[in-house]
Amino acid sequence: MTQNIYDDGMFFAEYSRLRRSVEGLDGAPEWPALRALLPELHGRRVLDLGCGFGWFCRWARQQGAARVLGIDVSERMLAQARATTQDPAIAYTRADMEALELPAGSFDLAFSSLALHYVQDLDRLVREVHGSLAPGGSLVFSVEHPVFTAPAKPGWSRGADGRATWPIDSYLDQGPRSTVWLTKGVIKHHRTVAAYLNTLIKCGFAIAQVEEWGPTEEQVQSQPALAAERQRPPFLLVGAKRL
Ligand SMILES: C[S@@+](CC[C@H](N)C(=O)[O-])C[C@H]1O[C@@H](n2cnc3c(N)ncnc32)[C@H](O)[C@@H]1O
Repeated sequence: MTQNIYDDGMFFAEYSRLRRSVEGLDGAPEWPALRALLPELHGRRVLDLGCGFGWFCRWARQQGAARVLGIDVSERMLAQARATTQDPAIAYTRADMEALELPAGSFDLAFSSLALHYVQDLDRLVREVHGSLAPGGSLVFSVEHPVFTAPAKPGWSRGADGRATWPIDSYLDQGPRSTVWLTKGVIKHHRTVAAYLNTLIKCGFAIAQVEEWGPTEEQVQSQPALAAERQRPPFLLVGAKRL
């Protein structure tokens, strides 16, 4: 069952304070790498899965996308997306990715930023997205990296030499994890890198590019707090094409 933690008042308040929530795409350090996976958007029909505050929907239109549909399960996220969008070519719909139904061949790009690790039945969703894309259409997404989602109790520890270490356990045990992120009991669904990629291949996508994202040296210099993220990749970025 979908948790919809973003509609929890305390969680939403904390999430709204994150840099990426305040500054949008430019406040997300992985954005340049994710943007590099995107196809040309001019005239394209775009779907944003787990659109949140709608930052990507608005950016896609600035790049010339013909129309954008943002879907999200959270009323609170959608309310803010609607309040900050004045564009009749962007529509926001409340929908649960676990049960999403999309018209066949109606999009050229399906995009998702940091939302698919909340989905339990990824096979079903990827099949649905495949059907909704025109032939040659693209699927581009980021998720929390599987080395990040694997541990039963995610968190840094210190090695004997004082270095920050991210312990990995339970990597091959795929399934839900109840974690503390902004609040207690946030459910994320762990799957391996192979599971993500094989799901795409099985559902009729060709993998175009995979990035295990970590900050660049320049990003660490300008934001030293990012340094730890070079110890293990926090995000997995994938670009794929519908066959
Ligand atoms: C980390 S936020 C990312 C928001 C936006 N994509 C971004 O990068 O700024 C994850 C979003 O996924 C949405 N979400 C989580 N589970 C969902 C589901 N089952 N169906 C639709 N949206 C979901 C949440 O409500 C939230 O808005």
